[in-house]
Amino acid sequence: MVRYLITSAIPYINGIKHLGNLIGSQLPADLFARYQRARGNEVLFLCATDEHGTPAELAAAEAGQPIAEYCAGMHKVQSEISDGFRLSFDHFGRSSSLQNQKLTQHFAGRLAEANLIHEVSEAQMYSPTDGRYLPDRYIEGTCPNCGFEDARGDQCDNCTKQLNPTDLINPRSAVSGATDLEERETTHLYLAQSKMREQLQNWIDSKADWPILTTSIAKKWLNDGDGLQDRGITRDLDWGIPVKKGANPWPGMETKVFYVWFDAPIEYIAAAQEWQDAGKGNDWESWWRTDKGADDVIYTQFMGKDNVPFHTLSFPVTILGSGEPWKLVDYIKSFNYLNYDGGQFSTSRGRGVFMDQALELLPADYWRWWLLSNAPESSDAEFTWELFQTNTNKDLADVLGNFVSRVTKFCRSKFGETIPAGGHWAEQEALLIKDLTKRLRTYETLMEAMEIRKAAAELRAIWVAGNEYLQAVAPWITFKDNPKQAAAQIRLALNLIRFYAVISSPFIPDASSALMNAMQTRDACWPKDLESALTCMSPGQDFTVPDVTFRKITDDECAAWKVRFAGNA
Ligand code: 2FM
Ligand code: ZN
Repeated sequence: MVRYLITSAIPYINGIKHLGNLIGSQLPADLFARYQRARGNEVLFLCATDEHGTPAELAAAEAGQPIAEYCAGMHKVQSEISDGFRLSFDHFGRSSSLQNQKLTQHFAGRLAEANLIHEVSEAQMYSPTDGRYLPDRYIEGTCPNCGFEDARGDQCDNCTKQLNPTDLINPRSAVSGATDLEERETTHLYLAQSKMREQLQNWIDSKADWPILTTSIAKKWLNDGDGLQDRGITRDLDWGIPVKKGANPWPGMETKVFYVWFDAPIEYIAAAQEWQDAGKGNDWESWWRTDKGADDVIYTQFMGKDNVPFHTLSFPVTILGSGEPWKLVDYIKSFNYLNYDGGQFSTSRGRGVFMDQALELLPADYWRWWLLSNAPESSDAEFTWELFQTNTNKDLADVLGNFVSRVTKFCRSKFGETIPAGGHWAEQEALLIKDLTKRLRTYETLMEAMEIRKAAAELRAIWVAGNEYLQAVAPWITFKDNPKQAAAQIRLALNLIRFYAVISSPFIPDASSALMNAMQTRDACWPKDLESALTCMSPGQDFTVPDVTFRKITDDECAAWKVRFAGNA
């Protein structure tokens, strides 16, 4: 049994995420967690809400709520929606937890002792009208790179360039719109990432098996000159983790908090502590400390490509720089973007489908299957209603759903709702088993390698093979001359339903458990050899004909949804 630590990038607290966010980290992480559990491995799957920084403060202000209240409310909302999508986190934590506060302050103290933190006095934008500094998204203005007029202080949404608030042309306060801004000197803590360039380079060079998307981004930042600049890790904000050196005050830093990107990844560790403190497990350190047993843990992180620099450079600097035996990530699976119907998803314009809305339209499995089988792995991908309708109708309704319905209904009409006895397998069955054995091993290899699209394609091919077998042996014809032979064929086909339920469960967990219930079996053991997997349910066992496993999405629905989610220009 192998121990898998799995984390998904932690979503910002400000609002409900769209389907592009979902397929960018949480959903593929869930697929991998479910697969490893199904293989009998021990899994700790963690996620959380990212509750600090300017996005949280601005969203709370817009909602007219005190920030702590806003975060508590939105955490609950996001947590319920995650449940709706069957994201099987062992714990869904909060970066504002006391555990994360303590741990973040601890790391900062260790980094300071290692001489990796220094103070820098620098000019920051200050708004006399608002009576505050305006870091990151608190400031807006014209992008010096592309001229976009609504660029934010940390990044231009139009050309994606990373910015500093002082770079903006015609800057204005995002709170009040005030333009009478001035630059004021303030002191901040900087993390000396540049001192660790060589160590990081060696570490990344040792990861020859990482996806190209991950290593290319890491290397670009590492070698650009730009990327490994020392980073400011504090901000002049009220909301956040107070700057302390371990448990001790940090003179001069009393009014400041840590930058959200400093404390967010530390929450991966704190979430394990939260998991234990919530009574869901014990020995969290055995997952995170290599001196406490974590050296045999395989740690995989999932994230969108914009998060890669923070996970390949900044967070490893925190971990390595602490000089303590924390577990470093073993594999980073990163994703490109999912676009929406010829453009981008947009929260502000309400463009695209958001997670809560998706679940109002259709059960989670429809979305899970489409998103995973079209995951933006090697390039950006696009959601269109036409593709969604065609793919789900074909794969889920025509191939899998139809197989289940034909097999169970035919059996009920000829043999009753019981696995029929009699007859023997012949050449067709041997061929099917040979084919499925090969395909199953390929599917396993792809799932281990997190090649999600290819794994989905192989799973679909396994469903198709069942249909083709059924079509070829045609038990409804065999039955006329040789009912015993037909019984053997349909017995195999019923066993295929259980087999499909087991191996498809990481992708479509609800349909899988519905099929397991219909087959009245609890044996969800991962199939080792196909012959025993396909004889697992023996003659005489009862089953029920399930309700429609997957329905078809109609043209009218698609047309209406296209209009509803187009957003306001
Ligand atoms: O991009 C985002 O949504 C960030 N909230 C991800 C943070 S991941 C981490 F480092 F915790
Ligand atoms: Zn720009």
